[in-house]
Amino acid sequence: MEQLLEQIETYKKEIKGFAATDAKAAEEFRIKYLGTKGIVKAVMAELKNVPHEKKKEFGQVLNEFKIFAEEKFESLKSSTSSLEHPTSNIDLSLPGDPMPLGSRHPITLMRNRIVSIFQRLGFAIAEGPEIEDDWHNFTALNLHEHHPARDMQDTFYVQQNPDWLLRTHTSNVQIREMEKGKLPIRGIYPGRVYRNETVSARSHCFFHQVEGLYIDENVSFADLKQTLYFFVREMYGKDVRVRFRPSYFPFTEPSAEMDVSCFICGGVGCNICKKTGWVEILGCGMVHPQVLQNCHIDPNKYTGFAFGMGIERPAMLKYGINDIRLFSENDVRFLKQFTSAI
Ligand code: DAH
Repeated sequence: MEQLLEQIETYKKEIKGFAATDAKAAEEFRIKYLGTKGIVKAVMAELKNVPHEKKKEFGQVLNEFKIFAEEKFESLKSSTSSLEHPTSNIDLSLPGDPMPLGSRHPITLMRNRIVSIFQRLGFAIAEGPEIEDDWHNFTALNLHEHHPARDMQDTFYVQQNPDWLLRTHTSNVQIREMEKGKLPIRGIYPGRVYRNETVSARSHCFFHQVEGLYIDENVSFADLKQTLYFFVREMYGKDVRVRFRPSYFPFTEPSAEMDVSCFICGGVGCNICKKTGWVEILGCGMVHPQVLQNCHIDPNKYTGFAFGMGIERPAMLKYGINDIRLFSENDVRFLKQFTSAI
C-alpha cells in the first residue's frame, strides 16, 4: 500500500512539472496519463488489491489523483489551443480596420447650410407638423376656399378627417409661430412638404422647404432685401448678383420672387439657367396685414417679411444631381458620396 501511495505522489510531481508548448504535447500527456492504457487507469486498477477495510480511503486518494490529472490536461489543452488559435497570430502593431462611417443626406447638408446662415443673423429654428389642418396650411394664409392650390389634384387630404391634409408648404409654421403671441419673431423653419404631383426626374410628391419669418415694429422691404442679399452672398459667394421680380402670393403683399445670377455659368447662359443667366431660388414678400390679423397681431403696429425656398433644387445644382428621385431611393452608392462638416 505504502508503495502505491509513494508511486502516486511521484506521478503527481511528474504531472505538475509537465509542460506543453503545443497541442501535440498536450495530446501526448492525455495518452500517457488518461488514455485507455494510461497511468491513471493502471493506478485505479490497483484498487482491487486493496484490503476491503481500506477501500474507501484508497478510493478517495485514487479519485483525487484522477481529477488532478484531468485538470492538468484541461489546462494544457486551453493554454496550447489559444497559442494555436488564429487570433494569436494577430500583429498588434498593425493599424486597425477602419470603421465604416455614415454620411449625411445631401438634403440634410443643404438644409443645414441654409439654416445656419440665418441662425447667424439671429433667426431661431422651429418646426411644425406635416399633417396639418386647413386653417394653418390655407385659410390663415389668405388662401381662400376656391384657391386652386386647395384642389384635390394638388393636395393630399387625410381620409379620416376632411379638415386634415399633408402640408403643401412650410408656411404653416409661420402661422403656428405667430399664433404663439410672442413678438418679435425671427424664425427659420425647415421641413418636408407634400404635393400630389406625378413623380418624375424633376418633381416629386414630397420635397423640402425652408420658410423664414421676421415680425417686428418697422420691418420694411429693405430689411427683406438686405437679409436675402446677405444669405445669397454667404451661400453662393461674394460675386453673386440678385434680382427681385414682382410676383403674387396670397399671404404676402407686395410679393416677389428672387433670382440669383446662375452660379453654374456665372450668368452667361447654360442649360441649368435655360440660357437666361438667372436661377429662381425663392418666393418672398411683406406679410399680408390680413395674415397678421388672423394670428392676432396688430398690423398697424407690426410689419414683417416672409420667404420660402425649396431645398432640392439648390442641392441638385450644388451636387450635380440630375434626378430628384435619387434623394428618396436610399441607394447607398448615391448617399455615401456626400460629405461635409455640417
Ligand atoms: N409657400 C410658398 C410655396 O410653397 C413659398 C413662399 C413664398 C413662402 C412667399 C413665403 C413667401 O413665406 O413669402 O411656393
